[in-house]
Amino acid sequence: MTTKMTAAAETIEIALTVNGERVKRPVPARLNLADFLRNEMQLTGTHVGCEHGVCGACTVRVDGEIVRGCLMLAVQADGCKVETIEGLSDSGELAELQSAFVLFNALQCGYCTPGMLIAAQALLQNEPNPSRERIREHLSGNYCRCTGYQSIVDAVEAVAKQRAARAK
Ligand code: FES
Ligand code: FES
Repeated sequence: MTTKMTAAAETIEIALTVNGERVKRPVPARLNLADFLRNEMQLTGTHVGCEHGVCGACTVRVDGEIVRGCLMLAVQADGCKVETIEGLSDSGELAELQSAFVLFNALQCGYCTPGMLIAAQALLQNEPNPSRERIREHLSGNYCRCTGYQSIVDAVEAVAKQRAARAK
């Protein structure tokens, strides 16, 4: 644990890995992870919608698990490995899903898209061959106000089928 109180500034020093980079920062105790990533790390691909854990726009990956960045405090990420849409895009891990989203017109304004991609990738990692219903169910925690979801489900299903065909 590398947390250190600095009472005067009412901040806590945290050390974590963000997209492969070691980061050490003093942060206000009540700062949430999404705001930390956006405002302290300039990783603005993590979006903030409801700030109540409902919309999924703030979805990031922490130690391999998807979490709502608005519901987790930055201090709770001390010692953790955090991955955002920027890191996952740069690594190429989301490339297939990103291409499919473009191909199927699975985004319009794009506000939901970073969270949607990270959530979809988590599903396909855990369940390589999900049904359309299962895709809908899994993504139901990520709100999209533009697309009506049909094209998003099409895109995720297409990637699942591509990966299944490759695995044969
Ligand atoms: S901003 Fe976090 S779930 Fe909506
Ligand atoms: S594309 Fe606009 S909210 Fe999903």
